[in-house]
Amino acid sequence: MDQNLFEQKYMEKSWKIKKNPYQKYIIEESVKKWAQFLKEKKIKGKLLDVGCGNGKNSVYFAQKGFKVLGVDFTKEAINLSQKYANTKKSSAKFEIKDITKKQFNNEKEYEVVIDCGCLHHLRKKYWNQYKKNILRLIKEKGYFYLHGFSVNSKKIDNVSKKRNWVVRKGHYTHFFSIKEVQDLFGKDFKIIETYEFKNLNNKFIVRTFYMQRI
Ligand SMILES: C[S@@+](CC[C@H](N)C(=O)[O-])C[C@H]1O[C@@H](n2cnc3c(N)ncnc32)[C@H](O)[C@@H]1O
Repeated sequence: MDQNLFEQKYMEKSWKIKKNPYQKYIIEESVKKWAQFLKEKKIKGKLLDVGCGNGKNSVYFAQKGFKVLGVDFTKEAINLSQKYANTKKSSAKFEIKDITKKQFNNEKEYEVVIDCGCLHHLRKKYWNQYKKNILRLIKEKGYFYLHGFSVNSKKIDNVSKKRNWVVRKGHYTHFFSIKEVQDLFGKDFKIIETYEFKNLNNKFIVRTFYMQRI
């Protein structure tokens, strides 16, 4: 089976499991800090939430006044997002889309793009297509927030010293170094800030990147 299709099916299943840690609707402190950063910069307008999961961040940014579109390649995640948005009477919209595919034609539409834990589940061979889509979607001088597992999480996760990734039950997880993110985005984005934090269930070290399109 195509690896991307496998991941889609894997995530489809895991969104149906209630004990999935991402089921929670708690906003990470780093996401709140990012919202504060945008407020201080007086950034408004359209925000794209890539790999939106249960929609918690989409709803959060819609509450802050952004016109939000959350995209995820699993139907189950989009259903959960839509339900959550309805309960919160949120204006956030959701669509099933794969960020590695040519499914986006809206050019340079978004002031802000956020990715909270999507790219770290994409195999390296999909990274360029991912980046092409981000560049297609984000406005000139637009802001890009990315967080993913840090290479410093490897120790916790018993990952081989030789690699920055692990495959468990066929599911891919990447552990980012600053250099990898610089190599992937550095030509097109300025990295404004980067820092590490412990994720919600305190198990992993996550690295956050604040970027701006050059
Ligand atoms: C770890 S979850 C994070 C969800 C949410 N952003 C959060 O912070 O809770 C990653 C999400 O990315 C989605 N995803 C993974 N690969 C994707 C792709 N190629 N296109 C769109 N969504 C994808 C998964 O379905 C999953 O919902």
